[in-house]
Amino acid sequence: MGRLIAVTSGKGGAGKSSVSVHLATALAKLSERVLIVDLDAGMRCLDIMLGVSDRLLFDLSDVLDKNKSVQEAVISLGNLDFLPAPLKGKINPTEFSRFISEVLEDYDFIILDFPAGTVDELYTALPRYCEALVVCNADAVSLRDAAIMGADLSELNFMSVRLILNRVSFKNMQKGITANIDEVIDTSGIRLMGVVPQSMDIYMSCCSGQPLGKRTRAAKAFERIAKRVMGYDIPLMPYKKI
Ligand SMILES: Nc1ncnc2c1ncn2[C@@H]1O[C@H](COP(=O)(O)OP(=O)(O)OP(=O)(O)O)[C@@H](O)[C@H]1O
Ligand SMILES: [Mg+2]
Repeated sequence: MGRLIAVTSGKGGAGKSSVSVHLATALAKLSERVLIVDLDAGMRCLDIMLGVSDRLLFDLSDVLDKNKSVQEAVISLGNLDFLPAPLKGKINPTEFSRFISEVLEDYDFIILDFPAGTVDELYTALPRYCEALVVCNADAVSLRDAAIMGADLSELNFMSVRLILNRVSFKNMQKGITANIDEVIDTSGIRLMGVVPQSMDIYMSCCSGQPLGKRTRAAKAFERIAKRVMGYDIPLMPYKKI
């Protein structure tokens, strides 16, 4: 059975979609069979970040309405299958729950890119073995949001709740502009799973739909996170802890 990972944050713009795309791509490169699902109905964006906007034919609503099978609706990118969010409307929690149980057998990982917002009925439709990754930045506003989100998710019996710290600038940490790694862990109250640098490569990749260059710091960061998610004993960061 595959592992189900919900990528979340209460506030918008923390980097959920970017983390979802680059984590899914890194897992696929490590030969895992991955399905990435855009759940941001009405505001979808993963097609742009994955560079497949001109290939869109169907979306999650076609699968939930039983017009298409998952295999017919996904866009295949090698080991990575992508299912776009509906263009409009709401995702029905009951149908969504059925869809999740159907696809679990076919993939090693299912990455769910949630829209910003508080925990709602779509979260409660998730099975108990779902794992959550809360994405946050090191500023005070984002950290408070992560702490609230982490507490709300823990009440839902998620199998695990872990933090991805995104847009990290060690210069800003050193200058005391943002929290440092220890402060991030203390304030959010969530165990840290991975650290992603502030990176022009990530920004350009999201804008252009081109994958991260293999040798970039960002690609290496996501490879480390993917391996940690897979259960390998990889240190959090290759560089000095602040
Ligand atoms: N580590 C990073 N370095 C540089 N830019 C980043 C990084 N992470 C995300 N971004 C950029 O920040 C913007 C917001 O990221 P993204 O869309 O992933 O956030 P989100 O949390 O999914 O937003 P929303 O809540 O609207 O769904 C994008 O332009 C993305 O390219
Ligand atoms: Mg998003």
